[in-house]
Amino acid sequence: MIRSRILSAGGYLPADVVSNDELARRYGLDTSDAWIRERSGIGQRHLAAPGETSSAMGTAAARQAMERAGVAAGEIDAVIVATATPDSSFPATAVRIQASLGITRGFAFDVLAACTGFVYALSVADSMIRGGSARCALVIGTETYSRILDWTDRGSCVLFGDGAGAVVLRAEEGEARGGAAQRGILSTHLHADGRHADILHVEGGPGSTGGTGLLRMAGREVFKHAVTKLAAVVDEALAANGLGREDISWLVPHQANIRIIDAMGKKLGLPPERVVVTVDRHANTSAASIPLAMAEAVAAGKFKPGDLVLLEAIGGGLTWGSALARW
Ligand code: UT7
Repeated sequence: MIRSRILSAGGYLPADVVSNDELARRYGLDTSDAWIRERSGIGQRHLAAPGETSSAMGTAAARQAMERAGVAAGEIDAVIVATATPDSSFPATAVRIQASLGITRGFAFDVLAACTGFVYALSVADSMIRGGSARCALVIGTETYSRILDWTDRGSCVLFGDGAGAVVLRAEEGEARGGAAQRGILSTHLHADGRHADILHVEGGPGSTGGTGLLRMAGREVFKHAVTKLAAVVDEALAANGLGREDISWLVPHQANIRIIDAMGKKLGLPPERVVVTVDRHANTSAASIPLAMAEAVAAGKFKPGDLVLLEAIGGGLTWGSALARW
């Protein structure tokens, strides 16, 4: 049986680090460092420089992931990019990254599932590897939300940041089907419910005849969905593999709000040091948040062979999902 193993992860953050106080000053926001920290756990975010695109950041993150994995451009035969802030409607940001990395074979395309984008992209890549369409895939989350934020809406603009993360997946022959002890992605679980599309969306876009092109979020509504849906999708991942919460080595959650992250850690009975947290420094980088967090964990030498790593995310759509991998 073929398994997709996560070989390594890389990340990239723009140079401009903006504290809560600096953000308030820069955009004339009626907010405070205390409010932002207390409600979300965010202390700062990185913002892309003028001209710095999702493809440029995704390329940098992918390069670091490939270096850490010891994988050359010639080995990659799939580039799958999760982004809600592509450089342009088309071509896909994935092909821009593919070209920048000097990859000339295989395929490249984008996946759009907002903050759940990386989990969706990972699931697609895993399916394609197990199905034999690819052997070595780059899965990238990259976002420049600073370009779609309404800088007059203090309820949303303080929560997001820019950045990119990437992982390299490779097909490996495994043992018995479904063996949970085997290294690689054990399962992924995707959900969507478009009835809630309007609680977190971008107003208008290239195919619309109106709209500002800016992000709108009913934060409290999204929060309520997050707590219940993430708990359910984590249980689903454990049940699908006959594992219990005590088996989890690491939780790498989508980084939207420390209160949601803490609730999930508590639900799983994990001590805080087993939950990878970046929201304090990166804010919510949407599809980039999980691979960026993985990249930090890899750099810190946290994941050891055999560790069970659980990923979970929720975002616009609504979309939500989880993935379980043996490192
Ligand atoms: O990545 C996709 C998933 N996204 C999420 O998971 C986000 C989920 N939602 C959240 O994280 C939280 O709901 C927020 C952080 C967005 C907001 O926290 P909250 O505790 O739900 O606050 P709230 O929206 O209920 O707002 C409380 C008060 C309001 O004032 P009133 O109506 O109580 O007088 C807001 O107007 O805080 C006010 N407020 C602010 N005050 C200072 C909203 N934004 C700000 C701000 N600074 N930046």
